[in-house]
Amino acid sequence: MANPDAARTAAQGSDMLIEFNEVVARFGSLHAMGPTTLSVRRGEFLAIVGPSGCGKSTLLNMVAGTLNPSSGSVLYNGKKVDGPNSDVGYITQKNYCVPWRTVEGNVRMPLELRGMARGEMDERVRFALAQVGLTGFEKAYPKQLSGGMLQRVMIARTLAYGPHVYLMDEPFGSLDAQLRMRMHAKLLDLWQQTGATFVFVTHDLQEAITLADRVVVMSRRPGRPKLIVDIDLPRGRDVVDIQADPAFGAYVKQLWHALDLH
Ligand SMILES: Nc1ncnc2c1ncn2[C@@H]1O[C@H](COP(=O)(O)OP(=O)(O)O)[C@@H](O)[C@H]1O
Ligand SMILES: [Mg+2]
Repeated sequence: MANPDAARTAAQGSDMLIEFNEVVARFGSLHAMGPTTLSVRRGEFLAIVGPSGCGKSTLLNMVAGTLNPSSGSVLYNGKKVDGPNSDVGYITQKNYCVPWRTVEGNVRMPLELRGMARGEMDERVRFALAQVGLTGFEKAYPKQLSGGMLQRVMIARTLAYGPHVYLMDEPFGSLDAQLRMRMHAKLLDLWQQTGATFVFVTHDLQEAITLADRVVVMSRRPGRPKLIVDIDLPRGRDVVDIQADPAFGAYVKQLWHALDLH
């Protein structure tokens, strides 16, 4: 799905779409994250890995504008984020389908909120459901679907919306290994076709390396970027072949040693 708006945005302003400047997150007496200084380039695919509780979801929440930093600032397109960011499509760990709507009704929801014309809406919903392999399930209700299918409905919903930025928080955790690889291929196509920016949180190092331009390893809580690795594997990546590249194994090893899981 071409996204002319994303291309237009890319033509103006600095290379950096998202900038965290000395960002700290505290919840009461808990120092959860930071200080974190990190930039995300326009059109970049950035993956974030790190131990549970180090502040990965917190970082995404700040870009989405649902959480303010305790100190420091988060800039989006050069402006401070100070409320819900409508450029962003956010696939959280706890998205829910609305139980009384069908699959297509769920995917259509944000488009209805935008007041989109029926024809375009139908077209986007059809496209998005096809992308995640849910064609034929349009009229199904959430209670009839598996966890992995529900997660794909959420992905389709974001895809249909066509955001400039995809924030994805362990989106494929509930999918089996084969389906996850198929979703990786779809996601790489989507990234290539749209020119959108992706910030992708995962605990799966292979997943991060397959998808990303750069992988950020966060330290234990309070999480800070501990290592940032450029994934210098050619684009036009094949999600199976890439694993046979010796460099792939070297990246797994490097990231694994940087991860501080205990
Ligand atoms: N709204 C909140 N209120 C209180 N504590 C929170 C809140 N959000 C996150 N935390 C805490 O901050 C830390 C980082 O959370 P989170 O960003 O969800 O970690 P991660 O996604 O890396 O597992 C955790 O210890 C979590 O319990
Ligand atoms: Mg999290």
